[in-house]
Amino acid sequence: MIGATGTIGSGIAKKLADSGARLYITGRDQNKLNELADTLKLNPDQALQLDLTNESSIQNAMETFLSRAGSPDIVINAAGIGIIKPIESLSVAEFKRTIDINLTASFILLKFIIPAMKTAGKGLIIHIPGVLGKTPMAGAAAYAASKYGLNGMMKSIREELKRTNIRITQLFLGGVDSAFWDSIDLKVQRDKMIAADEAAKAVWFLCQQPASGVVSEMVIQPFNHQAI
Ligand SMILES: NC(=O)c1ccc[n+]([C@@H]2O[C@H](COP(=O)([O-])OP(=O)(O)OC[C@H]3O[C@@H](n4cnc5c(N)ncnc54)[C@H](OP(=O)(O)O)[C@@H]3O)[C@@H](O)[C@H]2O)c1
Repeated sequence: MIGATGTIGSGIAKKLADSGARLYITGRDQNKLNELADTLKLNPDQALQLDLTNESSIQNAMETFLSRAGSPDIVINAAGIGIIKPIESLSVAEFKRTIDINLTASFILLKFIIPAMKTAGKGLIIHIPGVLGKTPMAGAAAYAASKYGLNGMMKSIREELKRTNIRITQLFLGGVDSAFWDSIDLKVQRDKMIAADEAAKAVWFLCQQPASGVVSEMVIQPFNHQAI
């Protein structure tokens, strides 16, 4: 699980740990990561710190993970940032940082994961592009660029993987009440958003699906704000 320390990620991690999954978790913040590993009763070697803005940090974490665990049955990437600002106040650095974390890091991670899954002959990759991977929103130039990019990248990789047993699932979530919104200066009704636990439950459900088919996409949106 990439981004296991996030609001949605930690909910997913708890549900998977309760179901008996052999879980490996990552996060950027070492303290949060240790705390989560303790809560989930994981061994310290099942928690890997990585910074998605740093290619060698991703490389080290992935090499360590693959040497410890082998090819993963399921990879869930629940990491991401959101910077929502009009273009005049959105800096080039913020734009690049959003693309680095939400898109380029996923690409780098997959360069390690897909060859391992190909050798193992199986695997499920779950991303959370969100509805802003399919529909625009004012102020979301950087965020939507990263998530539309993620969606396009995964659809292209899906074409490459058609003759393998590697499945790709894209979860398009509308607003989820999570820490994601804490640093966003926008008037939003968090009490009307999807509960983070419900979003986590959806990912847990996706992990249970039989390998004979694939849930290529799932969409969950707040009832009063259906954008796609
Ligand atoms: N919340 C929503 O409304 C919503 C809607 C649709 C889609 N999504 C997507 O769902 C995913 C999870 O979002 P969330 O709501 O759970 O957000 P969150 O609580 O802010 O969690 C974000 C996660 O990303 C990790 N992360 C951020 N920057 C990182 C970096 N440089 N290196 C490594 N890890 C980094 C964080 O690690 P640390 O905890 O260590 O900082 C944390 O685990 C994101 O991809 C988001 O775009 C969210």
